[in-house]
Amino acid sequence: MALALGAWTGTAPFATLQWTWRGLAGGVLATAPLLFGLWWCLRTRFPPVVRLVRLAEARIAPLFAGSTMLGLGIVAALAGLGEEALFRGVIQTAIAGHVPVWTAIILTAALFGVAHWLTPTYAVLAGLVGAYLGWTLAASGNLLVPIVAHGLYDLVALAVLMRVKSAHSSPFTSHSLPSVRLIDMDAIDAIQRRTSVRRFRPEPVPRQVIERLLDCAVRAPNHKLTEPWRFAVLTGRAVARLAELRARHRGRRYADPDSAEARAGMEKVRRETEQTPAFVVVMCAVSADDITREEDYAAAMMATDNLLIAAESQGLGTYLKTGGIMRDPDLAALAGLEAGFRVVAVVSLGYPEAEEAPRRRRPAADLTRWVE
Ligand SMILES: Cc1cc2nc3c(=O)[nH]c(=O)nc-3n(C[C@H](O)[C@H](O)[C@H](O)COP(=O)(O)O)c2cc1C
Repeated sequence: MALALGAWTGTAPFATLQWTWRGLAGGVLATAPLLFGLWWCLRTRFPPVVRLVRLAEARIAPLFAGSTMLGLGIVAALAGLGEEALFRGVIQTAIAGHVPVWTAIILTAALFGVAHWLTPTYAVLAGLVGAYLGWTLAASGNLLVPIVAHGLYDLVALAVLMRVKSAHSSPFTSHSLPSVRLIDMDAIDAIQRRTSVRRFRPEPVPRQVIERLLDCAVRAPNHKLTEPWRFAVLTGRAVARLAELRARHRGRRYADPDSAEARAGMEKVRRETEQTPAFVVVMCAVSADDITREEDYAAAMMATDNLLIAAESQGLGTYLKTGGIMRDPDLAALAGLEAGFRVVAVVSLGYPEAEEAPRRRRPAADLTRWVE
C-alpha cells in the first residue's frame, strides 16, 4: 500500500529512511513513552481502557495463539516497517509538502486513528500514538526512528498480550493451549457487570476461548466429585439446526401455528438464534438418588455460572435459557445427550453488539440478616 500510494502521490516511502546508529538509538529511546502508555493502560481502572484491554485480550491474543517470540518479532517488525512507510513515509510527508508540518502530523494521526478503529477509545489512543510517531519523524528527519519505536512497541505489547510462555503451565491448562490471559477482569467486576445479552456481533468466538470457559465451568464445587456436567458447543451449521428447532418450538405456543403472529414469532426466534455465534448446551446427570440428583443439578448450574462469569471477564456476553425446549428430543439428538443425563441450560455466547447495563437487583443488605 505504501509503495502504491507513494507512486501515486510521487512520494518515495523510504526517502527519509537513513540506516544510522543514531536513528536506531533514537527509535529505541522513543519507545519509552509508548511503553509507559502501555503500562498505564494495563494498570488503570478507567472503564473504556479496561474494556479495550479485555477486547484486545479476547480478539487479538487468539490470532497469535502458539506464536514464538521470533514469530511475534517478525509480525512487529513488518507492522513497524509497513505502517510507518505508509503513514509517516508517504501520507505525512506528502501532506507536509502542502501545509505546515504540525498540520500534516495531526491529519496523518487522525487517519492513523481511524485506520485502527477497534473501539472509539482505541482510535483515540492510536491517534495520539500516531501524532507522537509523526513528531519523532519531524524532529529527527529519519524514518528509522518511528519504524523502530513502532516495531519495538508492537513486539512488547504482543509479548505482554500473549505472555509468551515456555516453562509456564498450570494443572488446569494443557500445554497445547495458548495463554490468552493478559489481565482478566477481576472476579468481582465480572460478577457485577454480567447481564443477559440478547444481541451479538457476528464474529465467531475462538475455540480456545470457549475451551477456557469450559475449563472454568468444571472448577465448580461438586459434592462427592460426581462431575455431573456435560457440555455440547454448537457453532456453524449446528446453530442453524438449533434455530430451526427453536422456531418450531416457539410455533407450538400458538393455537394456529400458521397465523401471521405465529410466523412472526417463529421468525424472530430463528433470526435471534442464527445471529448468535455459539451456544453451550449444559447437560447434567440424573441420579436415582434424590439428594445426589439435587446436588448434581446445583453443581451443574454453578458450573454454568462459572462459565457466564468467565465469559464476562473475556469481554463475551451470555444468555442462559431453560424452558420446554430442554426436553425436546431433537435438542437431545443435536447435543448428543447421553442416557441418564438431561439438558439443564442452553447458553448463548458471543461478543455483545452493545454494552448493556446490568439489570436491577435489590441490595443484598435488604435481604440479609446478620446473626451473632
Ligand atoms: C435457571 C435459569 C433459567 C433461565 N431461563 C430463561 C429462559 O428460559 N428464558 C429467558 O429469557 N431467560 C432465562 N433466564 C435468564 C433470566 O431471565 C435473567 O437472568 C433475568 O432476566 C435477569 O437478567 P440478568 O441476567 O441480565 O441479570 C434464566 C435464568 C436462570 C438462572
